[in-house]
Amino acid sequence: MPSYSVPGKVHLIGEHAVVYGEPAMIAAVGRRCVVSAEKSDKIEIYSADFGSRTYEISEAVDFAKDVQALWKDGLAKKDFSPLFQLMRADKWNFRKAAIGIVLRELGIDGGVSISIKSDIPIGSGLGSSSALSVGLVAAIQAAYGKQLVREQINDLAYKLECINHGTPSGGDNSACCFGGLVWFQKAQPKNIIMPLNEEIPHSIDGFVLLWTGMPERTTGELVQAVRNLDENYRKPRMKEIGQLCYEMKTVLKARNYARMKEIINRNQQLLAELGVSTPTIDRIAEVVRGIGGAAKLCGAGGGGTML
Ligand code: MEV
Repeated sequence: MPSYSVPGKVHLIGEHAVVYGEPAMIAAVGRRCVVSAEKSDKIEIYSADFGSRTYEISEAVDFAKDVQALWKDGLAKKDFSPLFQLMRADKWNFRKAAIGIVLRELGIDGGVSISIKSDIPIGSGLGSSSALSVGLVAAIQAAYGKQLVREQINDLAYKLECINHGTPSGGDNSACCFGGLVWFQKAQPKNIIMPLNEEIPHSIDGFVLLWTGMPERTTGELVQAVRNLDENYRKPRMKEIGQLCYEMKTVLKARNYARMKEIINRNQQLLAELGVSTPTIDRIAEVVRGIGGAAKLCGAGGGGTML
């Protein structure tokens, strides 16, 4: 039974701005989602967290079609609320639709029996959904001997991320799919996904991930809220986060950790101005700054994990 162990991720810098074409630096973390799959005549899903469900193949594939139609509609109307409502309505909906999409996109007629085990907390900003998306694609294609290369797995995982988050940047799934420390930037005709492990080979000690509470809004909703901000307010902040990201690469190469901390603190301030921080995160960031450290939210924000 092919089994894939996919890491979660943490944004060192660049979340939200990455949606607008700015670069981000994203690192894999030691928490993982393990997905195994084998051929079946049904869609059977066993999740260590949620229990199990069985669907007819046609049920999952038809549901996937409806969900993708809803996504297209959301894209045209620049409003994914109906899609997000459907995904929120039942925690199995994403899994059912995602498996249906993978089967459709890979032209697979059969079904799959899938097992999912993850220790990446949901809603934490640590890439629980992107690791799951990558794991589902990797395991299903392997069960049917498709031999997709890593880039193809990542491209299809992005389509799964879209039904969860609307129009995500693709950074999260790329970090989970490629691992290590990744430089990611949305670009045409191809996104830039650059492993930084050779440029920055040394480890940087002293990072701690801190849980601040379950976010009330999903990543898609938080991204939408930022999109709803006045463009003249949003744009300069996104630009500045992008500039800080370029500087962060230089600073990390030079091991200039004093400047690294300033960049992280400024990044947090800009994210707060974009409305994705919380009073708890602001307070923790203030205390950490007060003792000479640096702290920022991770991922979409609104709660979740801090770095
Ligand atoms: C979420 O982990 C990161 C965001 O930048 C969204 C995205 O990149 O798609 C907020």
